[in-house]
Amino acid sequence: MADLTPSERYRLIVNTVTPRPIAWVVTQGKDGTRNCAPFSFFNALGDDPPLIVLGLMANHATGDAKDTARLIRETGEFTIALVGEADGEAMNLTAIDAPPGIDELELARIATLPSLLITPPRIASAPVSFECRTWQIIDAGPRSTVVLGEIVAMHIDDAFLIPGAAGRPPRIDTPAMKLIGRQHGAGMYVRNSDSFEMKRVSWPLPDD
Ligand SMILES: Cc1cc2nc3c(=O)[nH]c(=O)nc-3n(C[C@H](O)[C@H](O)[C@H](O)COP(=O)(O)O)c2cc1C
Repeated sequence: MADLTPSERYRLIVNTVTPRPIAWVVTQGKDGTRNCAPFSFFNALGDDPPLIVLGLMANHATGDAKDTARLIRETGEFTIALVGEADGEAMNLTAIDAPPGIDELELARIATLPSLLITPPRIASAPVSFECRTWQIIDAGPRSTVVLGEIVAMHIDDAFLIPGAAGRPPRIDTPAMKLIGRQHGAGMYVRNSDSFEMKRVSWPLPDD
């Protein structure tokens, strides 16, 4: 790794760590400017506190921080939507390298709903969205900002909730959400529809 350029390392990582979930992030500056972009250096990290992580790289051409990184630093708040197949093209449009101040939500005609606990709105069509506050920012390198965010509220579209038996909470119909993930290469995606089941093994192992 030490002998490679950052772009060579990037190619090796994104073509092997697959599929990656996509965080569709909405931020809002103190002046009210809204911003939206997707990030697949993203995952959930734990439940107490309920943490997520985002890997935000600097703009390849200019070396400047991306608007998302700048606005998360400024406000400490952001929403994350998970991306269903139906939102794929709109998500892709919001990855456009637009100058600061351009509202990608407006550009891609994306409807939003107000958040409960934070200022940035959330994407209305998303099957699931999280309201997040910054938990910690790690300046991992001159071109690499790692944001750890705490999920302070979560929204799931009622269409994906299966009523539980008496006194039990509803179950989540994950396959029905048709979430997509990022695959190898620059423009490849994967559908979340090829699941198979493997039961967990418990100790002691069964006899032969
Ligand atoms: C599916 C997808 C995943 C992406 N993942 C990342 C990522 O993990 N980190 C990153 O820095 N950029 C990522 N990008 C690129 C950003 O979305 C893009 O640079 C965007 O213009 C940043 O917008 P902003 O400057 O408004 O924050 C991704 C793009 C796409 C289409």
